Amino acid sequence: MSMPTLAAADEVVELMLEVPAGQVIRYDLAALRSALGITDPTRIVVETDGSRQAMVTVYPSNPLANVRAVTREDLVMDRHGRIVAGVYHNGRPVRKRLFDPSTGSAQRFLLFGTTGAGKSRALQLELIAEKINGIVSWLADLKEGQSVPEAKGNVDFYGSSQEEAILILRSGVAVAHARMRRYSAAGRNSFALGGDPLLHVRIDEANRLLEKGAPYRDEATGLIKELGRTGRSVGVGIGLAAQASHLEELGGSDTLRAMLKEGEVTLLRWSSSMMRQLVGDGLLPAGEQLQTIPKTLAERVLRSQFDLDEDDDDDAPGTQGTGYVLSGPRPTAMMRHLRVGSIAPLPGLDPEILALYGDDEPARLEVASHAAAAAAYASRHDPVAMAALCQALQAEHEEKSKSGAVVSISAGHSGGLLEDRVQAVLASADAPMTAADVLDAVNADGGKAVKVGSVRNSLGLLADEGDVARVGRGLYALNR
Ligand SMILES: Nc1ncnc2c1ncn2[C@@H]1O[C@H](COP(=O)(O)OP(=O)(O)OP(=O)(O)O)[C@@H](O)[C@H]1O
Ligand SMILES: [Mg+2]
Repeated sequence: MSMPTLAAADEVVELMLEVPAGQVIRYDLAALRSALGITDPTRIVVETDGSRQAMVTVYPSNPLANVRAVTREDLVMDRHGRIVAGVYHNGRPVRKRLFDPSTGSAQRFLLFGTTGAGKSRALQLELIAEKINGIVSWLADLKEGQSVPEAKGNVDFYGSSQEEAILILRSGVAVAHARMRRYSAAGRNSFALGGDPLLHVRIDEANRLLEKGAPYRDEATGLIKELGRTGRSVGVGIGLAAQASHLEELGGSDTLRAMLKEGEVTLLRWSSSMMRQLVGDGLLPAGEQLQTIPKTLAERVLRSQFDLDEDDDDDAPGTQGTGYVLSGPRPTAMMRHLRVGSIAPLPGLDPEILALYGDDEPARLEVASHAAAAAAYASRHDPVAMAALCQALQAEHEEKSKSGAVVSISAGHSGGLLEDRVQAVLASADAPMTAADVLDAVNADGGKAVKVGSVRNSLGLLADEGDVARVGRGLYALNR
């Protein structure tokens, strides 16, 4: 069957399909597009009921090419704690939950997407909604404050460095614990709006904090886990926006697994490995596919190298902000976030975004939790005091990682290759060592006892490979 037999060129076609009882509907989007003669992947949407039925919608052109601007009214929570954040391909509103009044649960938010997919704008929309709804926002914008610049001054606590992110997270955890104590002393076992405000800790570019080799990865992972675990019932939510091709990059795969399963998850333009993992993790039912979101709406046309026409269409409209709300009622329905501010780059802050935030003061943390939020919170508007706290954090961290390195070396390498043990010994030494010194240290690391000849052999091998340098007569040091 081909499209012209189904509809005129400007009509929307909806097909309801069903497989016989006992079978589960499966489909291959690429094959379906090929069968229907569709080259623009954003013109076709397949949604299933997860069992026998599927609905295929074919549009004459991308239905989300133009999406209206967000208004303050969109961002006022309804009685279910939801705001309007976008539109589905069929024009229906996309609702995201900021709070669950039926259980009193604070939410966890995840926004994934490759670079330029529209993560920061979607985050900005949620931050504006937080201000409008009296939610206390604490934000770390890890692109040096470049991603959501209008948020500064419109959130209660703002940071733009890794150290500030850690201080924000530590304060957030401390507030959650303080609230827990306070609520349990008062005989309360849940959170309700009207007393303490909701507190949302948000991190944009969370990958920078959580990726392998990031300086505070372990602590950040622990704090985020703790917020996810204890914050829910005391009105403290956590939200991450991240560019990640693999969950491993975000503090290890199981850190976020629970958050992913229970959180508000929005997936913008993604990489294929991320998608495989989401399916592998059961976030998307097997057999379900998400139509890939291309970077632009330019049609892919094969052109011969002998074709002299050069009409490469460079200004085809982009697809930024397009994605899927995986935790919503229609996880496989393509949606796009409402436009927030100017699409074209501006020289300074965006007046449209500032107007959405409004002139009033953002909601502030309750006084009863100020002590728990500690010096970092008290210093948040004092750049000198904040810089001192960040420096102290850096120093504390360096101290820890020094002693931590020795501990992990003796624990980790004592049973391993002799070369590794020798390297570990040299790594924790302050000065070059003789083979005899190395021998003693290796034999003290808790592993198998070795002889001096083996140590000399290992030192020779490591020197040949360039890992170890001979510095002066009989002295060895690690090449750093
Ligand atoms: N919903 C939207 N509608 C239209 N345009 C949008 C939308 N969201 C984002 N854009 C456009 O896409 C651009 C990139 O968006 P944004 O900065 O949010 O992406 P990002 O995923 O945070 O990118 P990065 O990885 O660089 O941080 C914006 O400057 C804006 O012009
Ligand atoms: Mg961004």
